[in-house]
Amino acid sequence: MKIVLIGAGNVATHLGRKLVEVGEEVVQVFSRSLPKAAALATELGARPVDDLYGVTAKADLYIIAVHDDAIGEVLKKIEDFVLDKLVVHTSGSTPAKVFETVPELNRTGVFYPLQTFTKERQLDFSEVPICIQASQDADLLVLEELASKISSNVYKITDAQRAWLHVSAVFVNNFTNHLFNIGNSCLGKKQLPFEMLMPLIRETVAKLEDGSPKDMQTGPAVRKDIKTIERHLTLLNGRGDLQEIYRVLTKHIKRAHADNWKH
Ligand SMILES: NC(=O)c1ccc[n+]([C@@H]2O[C@H](COP(=O)([O-])OP(=O)(O)OC[C@H]3O[C@@H](n4cnc5c(N)ncnc54)[C@H](OP(=O)(O)O)[C@@H]3O)[C@@H](O)[C@H]2O)c1
Repeated sequence: MKIVLIGAGNVATHLGRKLVEVGEEVVQVFSRSLPKAAALATELGARPVDDLYGVTAKADLYIIAVHDDAIGEVLKKIEDFVLDKLVVHTSGSTPAKVFETVPELNRTGVFYPLQTFTKERQLDFSEVPICIQASQDADLLVLEELASKISSNVYKITDAQRAWLHVSAVFVNNFTNHLFNIGNSCLGKKQLPFEMLMPLIRETVAKLEDGSPKDMQTGPAVRKDIKTIERHLTLLNGRGDLQEIYRVLTKHIKRAHADNWKH
């Protein structure tokens, strides 16, 4: 399959590398920055392009891996070259409705890899869940075949399922990571290194193999240790923002474990 990658960021880089590894042909890589397009294109054995009007019409699949808000704009610019071609985006949160920007496109879909991608990091793609959708049944098969080559976890999902999947991913990854950031700044108050938290973080995640997140909850909010909660809030005096986050999460844990608090 001849593939054009529109975007040269985190997802395009990881996806491009894996597609080439399994024998697919990436023919072109687009970025608004020619050096950026060239860097990835060279690695993938493709041609770089920095102008969307220069995108080739001779590919089978166009993967749009650009910022969510730019997908519609990109579609409008490439529409003339891709009218009878399969065009997908990689966004978790963008509904398939975005393709209505160009009503003439009739072979569209989604190829959403559910993982946090950072260009500079190595990543094992074979376990990444690939969530696929297509406007036509035949194209769903094409996407399924392609996704199965790069991962053993392929899911056919709907727009509504993807929306919930994405919000869930924001909670478990983006928000959790921000909580790591807060934890790190708390340690910084007393010149303690973040590495001290790593075994705790690893075990928090490892435990999830053995039970539901709810069953694995520990800490003062689930134990009803009110004095500890008050001490923490006092420690955070002067950081009203952190107190607010602490109170909201404590309240939510209490609500989720309401049975404990009844006794
Ligand atoms: N990163 C993740 O963990 C992840 C996971 C799953 C899905 N996704 C989805 O994958 C897509 C790409 O995410 P990413 O993390 O790869 O983003 P990224 O690393 O920030 O790269 C975004 C790419 O979008 C291009 N772009 C931005 N605005 C543009 C515009 N107006 N016109 C044309 N190109 C534009 C950038 O172009 P230049 O090269 O010209 O700067 C860049 O190549 C998004 O839809 C995102 O939701 C991301």
